[in-house]
Amino acid sequence: MAASAGGGPGAALDQERVQEFLDRVITDSGAAVAGLCTSLGDRLGLYAAMADAGPLTSAQLAARTGLVERYVREWLAAQVAGEYVTYAPDTDTYLLPAEHAAVLADPELPTYAAGFFTAMQALYATEDALIEAFRTGEGVGWEEHGPALFAGTAKFFRPGYAASLVPEWLSAMADVREKLERGAQVADVGCGYGYSTTLMARAFPRSHFHGFDFHRPSIEAARGIADEEGLADRVSFEVATAQDFPGEDFDLITFFDCLHDTGDPGGALHHAEQALAYGGTCMVVEPNASEKVQENANPIGRAVTASSVAVCLPSALAQHGPQALGNHAGEEVMREIADEAGLHHWRLAAESPLNRVYAVGR
Ligand SMILES: C[S@@+](CC[C@H](N)C(=O)[O-])C[C@H]1O[C@@H](n2cnc3c(N)ncnc32)[C@H](O)[C@@H]1O
Repeated sequence: MAASAGGGPGAALDQERVQEFLDRVITDSGAAVAGLCTSLGDRLGLYAAMADAGPLTSAQLAARTGLVERYVREWLAAQVAGEYVTYAPDTDTYLLPAEHAAVLADPELPTYAAGFFTAMQALYATEDALIEAFRTGEGVGWEEHGPALFAGTAKFFRPGYAASLVPEWLSAMADVREKLERGAQVADVGCGYGYSTTLMARAFPRSHFHGFDFHRPSIEAARGIADEEGLADRVSFEVATAQDFPGEDFDLITFFDCLHDTGDPGGALHHAEQALAYGGTCMVVEPNASEKVQENANPIGRAVTASSVAVCLPSALAQHGPQALGNHAGEEVMREIADEAGLHHWRLAAESPLNRVYAVGR
């Protein structure tokens, strides 16, 4: 392929490259609309009803889900077009392959990825506020988004935490794990719906867990989830900021995908340093994306950097603190902030496709 002539006015265009790029953008526009169908399939239980069901007609799927056949048929057509579902014209039946069901149908599986699509309606609804924010430099607060963002974020992160938090990440911090097994005090800061908190609580029955988040509706949801799981005696949730949460002598203070969302990550880490017990550890979990923009041209990097535009950077700016990092500030920046906060020991303890996990101490 001929090299691009560059972007100057009147420069000759390589029409083959124009066409290739046009194809790509049209593919993306299809994916952007189809994301709504993925969310519908998730929230209406269509994927769950197709998992293990074998080939189904649209009428059979409608009957299984209690939905209207005409809508279900249209949804199925879109699923076939996106190659999520296969279609057999001779029997007029649709099949969700088992490998696709593992990604779309069961929130308990580590490969479940449909949850994030719940957040899309909130992300797209932010557009007008972002247009204003780009012009003024003001933020868009986490709490200003629609409730779908909070539920969608929790659904998105939960499978990764369920797969890795206890078996891998805490196992990579042997001293922390030992303390948790014996009985430790843990703060989970910026806990959102608290799935990280309850996962740890289930694994370490001798320890006590205190979830904090400045967003009241998320804390209320977290309390409901802990109650349902019968964990309320060892797990509490309280509305508090990362810079002033109560308590002291914590053996472990965790920040799951939230430190960069605060306007004052240095203040949060300084407060954590003050609240740690002697020999205590902070666990800082951040997205697995690079501070070098040229290194994020991959599916995860794309999702992470776009989420930073939509939510993370505006959330931090809305807090009017000293630093709005965005979600791919990188290890060195985070490490310097921790060092200034009195947390001089910094170690990359574990990594997953989505996250980097740092063990941080005095
Ligand atoms: C991306 S969500 C992650 C939530 C949760 N830790 C998880 O992994 O599912 C970021 C969370 O940080 C919280 N947050 C942002 N700024 C905060 C602050 N200054 N103090 C406390 N929580 C904050 C938000 O309310 C939100 O729940």
